[in-house]
Amino acid sequence: MSSNRVSAPILAALIFLCTAGAVVSASLGKYEDPRPVDGIAAWQQVYSVLVSPRCINCHTASNYPEQGDNRARHFANVVRGPAGTGVAGFRCVTCHQKENADSTGVPGGKNWHLAPLSMKWQDTNDQPLSSAEVCRAITDRARNGGLNGAALLKHHTEEPLVLWAWSPGRGVDGAMRTLPPLNHDEFVAATKQWVDAGMPCPK
Ligand code: HEC
Ligand code: HEC
Repeated sequence: MSSNRVSAPILAALIFLCTAGAVVSASLGKYEDPRPVDGIAAWQQVYSVLVSPRCINCHTASNYPEQGDNRARHFANVVRGPAGTGVAGFRCVTCHQKENADSTGVPGGKNWHLAPLSMKWQDTNDQPLSSAEVCRAITDRARNGGLNGAALLKHHTEEPLVLWAWSPGRGVDGAMRTLPPLNHDEFVAATKQWVDAGMPCPK
């Protein structure tokens, strides 16, 4: 009988140890490394913008740009051309000026052209690549134009074709084009958080 009984001081000690253990393991869990978790969450925010129509319509895997929220093939059989700028007699800048032309519905921005195929965020069926695939592409300096984290952040902060996505103007149908899912400040903040966390990619 007495061997089965746990004395009060021992019981108290056990309770203390268990509680302390729980506290320690909980805080260890928290301290393991918060950055990858936050970094991935921030990346998911960034990704939601990259694959939204205003961006991905220029980051295609195909031989043509896309237009509209349904990412339809660009009208008039416009093609990429060797440098993403169209072909002779049918250059992007023939129609696309430095500014949006709201009277005609032609969007515009400095040096309007398609992103090179190495910067594609779609597959050849015009479907967005997965979050992990886009993350790998955008962090691969052999494919992303040699940009490190700071340069990517700068691109997202200042590049005119990126900024265009937040003032995309009116379409040919007269309706204002829709905006990416985050505003530009939120997008830059998410990019910074992801870059500061070491640009982690989902598996
Ligand atoms: C013949 C004139 C013309 C040429 C050439 C042309 N575009 Fe366009 N583009 C337009 C017009 C007009 C629209 C708007 C269509 C609409 O709103 O229905 C448009 C829309 C777009 C959009 C859609 C924007 C969005 O998010 O909906 C992209 C992207 C685009 N063009 C890229 C290009 C690229 C890249 C080239 C060169 C390879 C090019 N365009 C050549 C006239 C042209
Ligand atoms: C009108 C076409 C166009 C639109 C719209 C556009 N881009 Fe791009 N993007 C380009 C081109 C062209 C390049 C290549 C620039 C260079 O080589 O200097 C590029 C390059 C990039 C890069 C460089 C790294 C890489 O791997 O892609 C990033 C990041 C990027 N764009 C982000 C965006 C984001 C974010 C948006 C929307 C908010 C966007 N782009 C909208 C044409 C576009």
